[in-house]
Amino acid sequence: MCGIVGYIGEQDAKEVLLKGLERLEYRGYDSAGIAVRNDEGVTVFKEKGRIADLRGAVDYAVEASTGIGHTRWATHGKPNKVNAHPHQSTAERFTLVHNGVIENYHHIQRDYLADVEMQSDTDTEIIVQLIAKFAGEGMTTKEAFCKSLTLLEGSYAIALLDAEEAETIYVAKNKSPLLVGLGERFNVIASDAMAMLQLTDQFVELMDKEIVIVRKDGVEIETLAGEGMRREPFTAEIDMSDIEKGTYPHYMLKEIDEQPAVVRKIVQAYQDDNDQLTIDPAILDALNSADRLHIIAAGTSYHAGLIGKEYLEKMTGIPVEVHISSEFGYNMPLLSEKPLFIFISQSGETADSRQVLVKIKELGHASLTITNVGGSTLSREADHTLLLHAGPEIAVASTKAYTAQLAVLAILAGVAAKARGKDIGFDLVQELGIVANAIQSQVDAKEEMEAIAHQYLATTRNCFFIGRVFDYFVGLEGALKLKEISYIQAEGFAGGELKHGTIALIEEGTPVIALATQEAVNLNIRGNVKEVAARGANPCIISMEGLQEQGDAHVLPKVNEMLSPLVSVIPMQLISYYAALHRDCDVDKPRNLAKSVTVE
Ligand code: G6P
Repeated sequence: MCGIVGYIGEQDAKEVLLKGLERLEYRGYDSAGIAVRNDEGVTVFKEKGRIADLRGAVDYAVEASTGIGHTRWATHGKPNKVNAHPHQSTAERFTLVHNGVIENYHHIQRDYLADVEMQSDTDTEIIVQLIAKFAGEGMTTKEAFCKSLTLLEGSYAIALLDAEEAETIYVAKNKSPLLVGLGERFNVIASDAMAMLQLTDQFVELMDKEIVIVRKDGVEIETLAGEGMRREPFTAEIDMSDIEKGTYPHYMLKEIDEQPAVVRKIVQAYQDDNDQLTIDPAILDALNSADRLHIIAAGTSYHAGLIGKEYLEKMTGIPVEVHISSEFGYNMPLLSEKPLFIFISQSGETADSRQVLVKIKELGHASLTITNVGGSTLSREADHTLLLHAGPEIAVASTKAYTAQLAVLAILAGVAAKARGKDIGFDLVQELGIVANAIQSQVDAKEEMEAIAHQYLATTRNCFFIGRVFDYFVGLEGALKLKEISYIQAEGFAGGELKHGTIALIEEGTPVIALATQEAVNLNIRGNVKEVAARGANPCIISMEGLQEQGDAHVLPKVNEMLSPLVSVIPMQLISYYAALHRDCDVDKPRNLAKSVTVE
């Protein structure tokens, strides 16, 4: 979702900003812009489309060493050049970029800006016009900025330039992520450390409702009430090679390939000196003293949560509910006396999940975040964190974070079960090792997956995924992957549910991808396949060694059935990848989607 960068130093700001924005492309956006300041004032360049389009619109003759930049994922107003950020006040004194949603922008416009003619359809423009109004009434820029912030309701990360003030960027945040990066005779701002990692790995975290005045030689943090704050920087522990594509054509393929290593790394990260799996005792206490667990998540993380429920319930015996975060906050079920809330989020920034965290904290309930990003909002604000150790995931379609989530959930459930004196019946470390090898065999089967994608999905309008038990949940994730990146209408169903409605959609040649990895329901899912085949469907069965039958399209190596989702999801990811390639889709940056959804 929207990304912000800023630079103040001695280099060519345009290039630093454009490179920074390129590193934020993965977040998803539909327009972009930069504003640079020099002695002649502020110059804005913006364009609909990709950063490559913006590069074409930039006048490289404009020299400047201060500037701000933005990638916009449209919420208020169409994705076009006018609505792209930066936005300027009418007299062009102030220039601003914003990430988030200003919920009361209509009221602000009515109460304070009735006489101002707006240039765009965005909620953002009211902020810059408001600052200009207060400055016009005699306030200093800092006063006008702070006064405006106190009037805003909603979420924001903001960077502001004043044409009349050399070498200063004003910055603030509320709910939306923003970091300040520190350097020698330069400082930067970024929504994500990745954007500026080539310049510095020292970052200062901003808290909600603070302002930061960023200059070349220093950074001042203040509360909105004007109280000065001191905060030590942290070192962003991201390896540049983790965020480069290397020889891969797409991040998604690189991330799919990383999955065997990720599973092995997770096992190591959660092993103690005696090679025993271990979880922070405070987390085990929270889990084992809870009378019910609520998993809260969105998108792919929600699909991992469905499987996490099975792991936690089956291994520990604690009842678990799984909820879509955007629903939970506004339609809360009856809560038990001592629930533990488990937030699953690759980014740790999903606003839908955060609104639940805020509400359950108000109710005094305990919380645990399972995330790939230490220091993210959900990690900071929850009582406990478990890290995924998957390395940065850049492709919008989540792959390695999903398998990492499953592995961490299995470890959490297994260790908690042991602490409760329960025998899960298998050696989790050993089985996860077998799983990592099986994942490797699947990522190595790319040609076969490409052929399946070609055979079943080359021209189809739609596709169904069916499965039972664990395979049903993996089918949901398979369908999500396919629709996200290939735009084929894809849906996942429980095999037995098809005949209760969806089977009406089966036409001659409709592809139905059926997963058959669960022995107890193998005959049932095979029966469901026959039902759709009898009505003209083109079934593609992906089974597991020991359960395979003549005609199956692909057979997965045998792994523990509970852990099979970590393996069976790989063909889903690869088939989607090749279907998207075949259809010339932008695999890493699918239309309309954002990696980190920071608005509700
Ligand atoms: C977006 C992404 C999905 C992701 C979901 C939840 O929709 O495009 O890939 O699964 O957000 O994100 P999270 O970071 O909370 O796991």
